[in-house]
Amino acid sequence: MSVFDLTDADRAAAEAHVSFARAEARRTDLPAGTALRPVRTAAVIGAGTMGGGIAMAFANAGLPVWLIDADAEGLQRGLARVRDNYAQSVKRGKLTEPDMAARLALITGTLSLAEAAEADLFVEAVFEDLALKQRLFRDLDAVARPGAILATNTSGLDIAAIAQATTRPQDVVGAHFFSPAHVMKLLEVVRTDQTAPEVSATLMALGPRLGKVAVLARVYPGFIGNALFRQYNREAHFLVEDGALPHEVDAALTRFGYAMGIFAVHDMAGNDVGYPTRKAQMATRDTNRRWNDLIMALVEQGRLGQKSGRGWYRYEAGSRTPQRDPELEAFIVAESERRGIVRRPIGEQEILERCLYGMVNEGARLLAQGIALRPSDIDLVYLTGYGFPAAQGGPMAMADRIGLPVVAAAVQDLHARMGVWWEPAPLLLQLAREGRSFAQWQAEQAEQAEAIPQGQSA
Ligand SMILES: NC(=O)c1ccc[n+]([C@@H]2O[C@H](COP(=O)([O-])OP(=O)(O)OC[C@H]3O[C@@H](n4cnc5c(N)ncnc54)[C@H](O)[C@@H]3O)[C@@H](O)[C@H]2O)c1
Repeated sequence: MSVFDLTDADRAAAEAHVSFARAEARRTDLPAGTALRPVRTAAVIGAGTMGGGIAMAFANAGLPVWLIDADAEGLQRGLARVRDNYAQSVKRGKLTEPDMAARLALITGTLSLAEAAEADLFVEAVFEDLALKQRLFRDLDAVARPGAILATNTSGLDIAAIAQATTRPQDVVGAHFFSPAHVMKLLEVVRTDQTAPEVSATLMALGPRLGKVAVLARVYPGFIGNALFRQYNREAHFLVEDGALPHEVDAALTRFGYAMGIFAVHDMAGNDVGYPTRKAQMATRDTNRRWNDLIMALVEQGRLGQKSGRGWYRYEAGSRTPQRDPELEAFIVAESERRGIVRRPIGEQEILERCLYGMVNEGARLLAQGIALRPSDIDLVYLTGYGFPAAQGGPMAMADRIGLPVVAAAVQDLHARMGVWWEPAPLLLQLAREGRSFAQWQAEQAEQAEAIPQGQSA
């Protein structure tokens, strides 16, 4: 039996942990009694994949929403996608025709920001480009009424830098929805050092109104979710370079409890997602670190995933079932050779340790810096936004179950073997040394916060 295997008692504990985590996430460190700003109307800017879904989430909650795009065709496409999504729900018997009509009536498409000037809340979802978002926030600053909340759905840009484009950085906050935004339950609320407490509190309260689980975070590359995902994703690709094949990594992950392995997920989402951002980053990244650009090579070969019939796997016409692809596997082997890597057999234990312990290590780093308020918030992000197996309780709860000394020793060993990416987080080492768990740390933090007289907490 491996440390990743679960007993019935483990599963029951994980279930209890999830309820606990949901309740905990609602308790923030915002001053007690913080007044909320009214959110009666919203405006979503950018009618693409995310914007359309976010607008639907508002309409589903009964809130009138403007859906704005700069491009007439983009707007029409976005509105058509919204209508199509609702029509699908009607077809599947999940929504009645009158409900569909009522929701569609709440969504007003427009090409003009000024038309939405009265909105209480703006959610920006244009292309992931800092200069573009800054320009847009400058325009918003000129148009929005005083006191309106200006939120961005950026996946990882510096929200403080976006806020600086306005004269009201206290009103700017991250509202990180997940795709598809009308379905996925997670809302990361990302505050900058300047975000007003009532702005963060209003978004935390808006989450449940939209049927979402809101988790409070601070600005950090990738916030909570994508910061951990980077570790997971990186190691999965290194494993493939070191000797495992995509189906072996995916098999280990599905045995662990994921519904799909990471390579199957990439093929489903499209390997080209994030290509331009990554391409731009390649020029300036630290040359002393190991990088892996296999996914870029796949895109350049037209291996986009399911939509092109081939990616990390191949797909028969009309099928979504991943099949091993000898051509792709030969390419991977050749790439290892080209990079001077001697491939070796890699077992399930190593695959899981490398994919999962990097997330725990990064999670410990986020806690020490206050990016995430508590370990169970990180678990909640993973359970609601990233498909982490519920029976495992989330990455931090999993680490507690395995034992932090075991996890810390593995991270130190990986650091010795693989170098800089595995630099152990001081908090992980400290808790392991002291024989404490993340859950104990969380309880102690809560006690300390309660000991501080009200109004003095940040
Ligand atoms: N796709 C995802 O899975 C996902 C998940 C979370 C967050 N995000 C983030 O959400 C944002 C949007 O991503 P997306 O995938 O929906 O992009 P997308 O390319 O599907 O849509 C972007 C839309 O913005 C419009 N647009 C561009 N400039 C504009 C402007 N100045 N004013 C108004 N509209 C403008 C475009 O015409 C387009 O319709 C990005 O910041 C992205 O990082 C994406």
